Amino acid sequence: MISIKNARFADGKFYSFTISNSCFSGVFTQESLEAVLPSTVSLQRYAELSADPDFAAKNQQLNVDAGGALLVPAAIDVHVHSRDPGFPEKETWGSLAQAAFRGGVVAVVDMPNTVPPTLGREELLDKAERSRRTPLEARFLLGVSSNNLEVLAPLLQDPSLPLSGLKIFYGQSTGNLQFADLEGLAGKLPQFQNYRLVFHAEDQCCIDDNSRALSLSGAYASLGGSYAVHSMLRDSNSALQATAAIVGWAKRWQRAVHIAHVSTPAEMALIVAARAEGVLVSAEVCPHHLLLSTDDYQRLAGFLTVNPPVRSRQEVSALRRYFVGGAIDCFASDHAPHTRREKLRPYPQCPSGVPSLEFFWPLFYRAVLASGGSIPDLLSMVSLTPATLFGFTGLGGLRSGLRASWVWLTPQEGQIASTDIRAQCQWSPYLGDPAVVSTQATWQDGICRYLG
Ligand code: DOR
Ligand code: ZN
Repeated sequence: MISIKNARFADGKFYSFTISNSCFSGVFTQESLEAVLPSTVSLQRYAELSADPDFAAKNQQLNVDAGGALLVPAAIDVHVHSRDPGFPEKETWGSLAQAAFRGGVVAVVDMPNTVPPTLGREELLDKAERSRRTPLEARFLLGVSSNNLEVLAPLLQDPSLPLSGLKIFYGQSTGNLQFADLEGLAGKLPQFQNYRLVFHAEDQCCIDDNSRALSLSGAYASLGGSYAVHSMLRDSNSALQATAAIVGWAKRWQRAVHIAHVSTPAEMALIVAARAEGVLVSAEVCPHHLLLSTDDYQRLAGFLTVNPPVRSRQEVSALRRYFVGGAIDCFASDHAPHTRREKLRPYPQCPSGVPSLEFFWPLFYRAVLASGGSIPDLLSMVSLTPATLFGFTGLGGLRSGLRASWVWLTPQEGQIASTDIRAQCQWSPYLGDPAVVSTQATWQDGICRYLG
């Protein structure tokens, strides 16, 4: 048994806890920092020892003094785009896992827009097999197209598959998976709710209308070649119209829907009102919609294009108010790496998507502080709620009986630096931003997967 004393949890109190068989076997509050036995090792030493994957199996007796270190639950990131199969030049499962552990994330939900796309059992099993070459825990969403509607229900009801639900690209985004026939989908899906229907909510008709009205190339030229045109093309109304259609559908058909990367306060207002009427709708937000805005195009150019795009500074402030108000269920990275060379292409050849997985905890922490919230109040957004909604058993907090997956955070006054990057694409829109905390170590099921 491992016995750890003098840990500080996010509520600011001191705790001791024990780990047996890779799980928390007891978590106790302490009055204050306690004196420790002479045979005690430091948290750093324990991290080094437990980096050996065989260490947990040895079931050693060890006393550890955390010395007041801040420990939080390991995060579950419910929105990442792995690139394997299809784009190993952008990311492999190896670099994805390294970025995740560096960011304090032990489990991810992967999106289906790889090549081939994850549309059936065979592609799902192939991708799951690729992911298992790393210790990162992954669950998957199946894509929806007019050609695979028949296979969805049997796959969703097969508990042997690492499947958390479906991803519906209501509007066109990276990949070719647009599907907007919601009525057709309802007819094919049984009404049970142990899986998520995750929506990319942007309305293609609005985007097409905007494209014509703007005369895209003209607007691009008149903005002096600024990528800011991306936020005009895929404007806030495109997102709102899509979210309204999806939430209306969920109400009509009594389906539980999850709106990925909500980018506007108007969508949040709609979601909150729908919930009050009993519609089952969960919402997720991403760091780029809380920490970046259209003001940043000048600085970041193509490295800021993402779908849905970043919004005005006013909308970012208003979205942050929902972040602390309890209306948002999950904070997720939407980690979507592209190579530097691709991101340097002129608009619109430059692909949309930004990486951020290795900065998950620092970005979450900063988003909470920038929104005026407190970490203990918002902790469930990255642990308990994702575990519950997306089916990660045994994860979700620092509690007896749960798996010993946790993160050691250290306060930092520096900046996010390129040496912190683990994603294979080796760039980040957050370089130079203040780093309020840094991930010092990440444990997954008692094994230390990252040590800074
Ligand atoms: O910006 C985005 N990039 N949005 C998406 O929906 C897909 C993603 C990607 O895969 O690159
Ligand atoms: Zn995405």
